Amino acid sequence: MASTLASVNPQTMRLTMGRFATGVAVVTTYAPDGTPHGMTVNSLTSVSLDPPLLLVCLTIGARSTDAITASGRFAVSILSSRQEPIAMRFARRAEDHFAGLEPAYGRHRVPVIPDALAHLECDVERHFVAGDHIVVVGRVLDTCERAGEPLAFLGGRFGDVVDRGHARAPWYF
Ligand SMILES: Cc1cc2nc3c(=O)[nH]c(=O)nc-3n(C[C@H](O)[C@H](O)[C@H](O)COP(=O)(O)O)c2cc1C
Repeated sequence: MASTLASVNPQTMRLTMGRFATGVAVVTTYAPDGTPHGMTVNSLTSVSLDPPLLLVCLTIGARSTDAITASGRFAVSILSSRQEPIAMRFARRAEDHFAGLEPAYGRHRVPVIPDALAHLECDVERHFVAGDHIVVVGRVLDTCERAGEPLAFLGGRFGDVVDRGHARAPWYF
């Protein structure tokens, strides 16, 4: 049944936006003492190609959010279909997310998730509060990517993307 605006509570918002299928990424950074931090996100969006900008929306008060705004630098690791355990690990609160997991490091020395489909290292271009999240706009400093199956998220569940073998869209090159 359709919801009216008056009934848009957090549960309704989460349920409705859950119809929007996304990939899954881990945003990583380091604390002033060098300790790596990370959190699972699906709010990743490409903002601009030239200059290269992306954004992520991060919960206010999460350790990774504070570490990113403090360090001014972060990385995004786009997860493969085999990395659901990594997505779960970095979604747990109050845990040393990297315990027992050796991070890889990008060219700009930001910790990243090994074996991810893509890495993007970013400087924080700007950040601002929007409701209960902080929107972090990153200027992409460096990227690397490889072919592979992405991890998907839909309706609160992880899943796979079915490649139907269609031709690429004409504007994609
Ligand atoms: C698939 C998935 C996507 C998520 N996307 C986001 C997101 O975009 N932004 C966010 O703030 N939290 C998101 N979360 C929740 C955070 O991962 C979780 O609250 C966070 O890891 C807690 O980290 P902390 O210990 O630093 O507080 C997502 C969780 C999952 C499982």
